Amino acid sequence: MEARRHVALKESIRSIPDYPKPGIIFRDITTLLSDPRSFRRAVDALVHPYAGGGIQQVAGIEARGFILGGAIAHQLSCGFVPIRKKGKLPHHKVSMAYALEYGTDEIEIHVDAVKPGDRVLLVDDLIATGGTATAAINLLRKIGAEIVAACFVIDLPDIGGAQRLRDLGVEVRTLME
Ligand code: PRP
Ligand code: ADE
Repeated sequence: MEARRHVALKESIRSIPDYPKPGIIFRDITTLLSDPRSFRRAVDALVHPYAGGGIQQVAGIEARGFILGGAIAHQLSCGFVPIRKKGKLPHHKVSMAYALEYGTDEIEIHVDAVKPGDRVLLVDDLIATGGTATAAINLLRKIGAEIVAACFVIDLPDIGGAQRLRDLGVEVRTLME
């Protein structure tokens, strides 16, 4: 339904075949980010459903989720919580390993990154298997967050990640497939 509204946005994303592995079509948002109108449109569209919705923290997943999440947090006048790849956070943290479309990884969050019951919006650029976002949701819930929704610019629906998140009871919004 959103796909038609975001034609220009979709055209601003570059597809790189066989990166980082043979058979993967990598959806490269650097071209969206460097185009001022596309960057603003993407952030505005992701923010719109949550304006005035009482979000207290935006949680962004390293690395591309930091770029969008920081801009979204600024626009919603709320805090930003980094969910980082293993070994980067300095304070007490919880960790979770996961599989994604082209490998495995581990992410971490500070144990005191949110206050119990804080209403959190999870942000990333893309959802494929949903492995990364599922791990992020598990970490956020472990430290007491209430997850209001998860939002992404791109959904790869054939891989099923968005449905995986909905099965966890999380509202999912994406701008295009
Ligand atoms: C990409 C993307 C998401 C994840 C989605 O991140 O930004 O975080 O993969 O895949 P999934 O739904 O199958 O888990 P990547 O791990 O490549 O890290 P990067 O942002 O540092 O490039
Ligand atoms: N993360 C997981 N799958 C991806 C893809 N096809 N393009 C960009 N990032 C991804």
